[in-house]
Amino acid sequence: MSEKKWTTYNSAGSRRVVVTKELPGKRWLEILTQADCQIIICTSPDILTVDEIKTAIRDRCDGAIGQLTEDWGADLFQALKASGAKAYSNYAVGYNNVDLAAATQQGIPVGNTPGVLTETTAEMAVCLTFAAARRVVESDIFMRQGRFHGWLPKLFLGELLRGKTAGVIGAGRIGSAYARMMVEGHKMNLIYYNRSQNKRIEDFVAAYGAFLNERGEESVWCRRAENVEELLREADVVSLHTVLDETTHHLINAERLSLMKENAILVNTGRGPVIDENALVDHCQKHPGFRAALDVFEDEPEMKPGLKDLDNVVIVPHIASATSWTREGMAILAASNVAGILMGYPAWQNPNILPFLGNEPPQAAPSILNAKELGIALYMD
Ligand code: DGY
Repeated sequence: MSEKKWTTYNSAGSRRVVVTKELPGKRWLEILTQADCQIIICTSPDILTVDEIKTAIRDRCDGAIGQLTEDWGADLFQALKASGAKAYSNYAVGYNNVDLAAATQQGIPVGNTPGVLTETTAEMAVCLTFAAARRVVESDIFMRQGRFHGWLPKLFLGELLRGKTAGVIGAGRIGSAYARMMVEGHKMNLIYYNRSQNKRIEDFVAAYGAFLNERGEESVWCRRAENVEELLREADVVSLHTVLDETTHHLINAERLSLMKENAILVNTGRGPVIDENALVDHCQKHPGFRAALDVFEDEPEMKPGLKDLDNVVIVPHIASATSWTREGMAILAASNVAGILMGYPAWQNPNILPFLGNEPPQAAPSILNAKELGIALYMD
């Protein structure tokens, strides 16, 4: 394994914060500098092992910002505790790579970065949906190979989505944003599966349906599915937006894939292990009209054998949140989580975190997942 490179920013800072990857923008560095932090940043793109991170933490560290590709388990939280650290933030909204219970046990507050990925990730899910429906990647390759010799009536026939049914599994912030985009933008009906009713999205679809009716256009409808199977049978497009935990691991398996329509589209911008990827490869091989579009993979960054050989699969490297605005916003939130805790600020409670991106950010830590468990004061407006 090659030796990783590190650089230090603001070496005059009296506090020591370890950041396991370079982050976009400058504002996050200013936030930590204002909190009197010296920032030790890994500049190598390779994924760090637990031991490499421990080496960087050394025997003195006040806080850390880590990546979703790293295993922030009991080992690292013990190391953080022993080094005197007071805060950790994941540079991600998802935190399936973090053992939250272990962090809480060590008394370490854990932050994440919600609220700035919502529209960006939903837009990418829409983009993947259409890339799959209209066979954009296959066509692009065809062009580059010099195989286009003139317009043909049956060249790359795809699927029209207008008036069909979008299925959303996990109707939280990102799932709801995707649902809105597909309903409003493409006049699709909506079926969703979620632990609790999402009244907001139901009301939105009802109001939009009424608006279409008034204009003499065909209306749209929304229904909450009783179970995943019902959704899979009915939807023409299924987009996955659940968290990854033991209840959602391999939620989409061979049996459930077999319930989906012959020409359905399956999109995943959540977490790879929600799909049994071997089962998906097998399904796509046997059903050429079926399409999948994946931003995330079961054994990321690896792919299961056969996946990349399939024409009916679109694959991109976990870039659903990759816009400058979002990634810089995530850096600001992660830095504000760590700096906020180090400064003794309370934990922000409002789901709207956009004030942290403005010129007068609140004196609070924007998103601390275990604030209540650790008895951290809550920010009251
Ligand atoms: C997250 O923040 O959890 C995303 O997967 C990053 O794109």
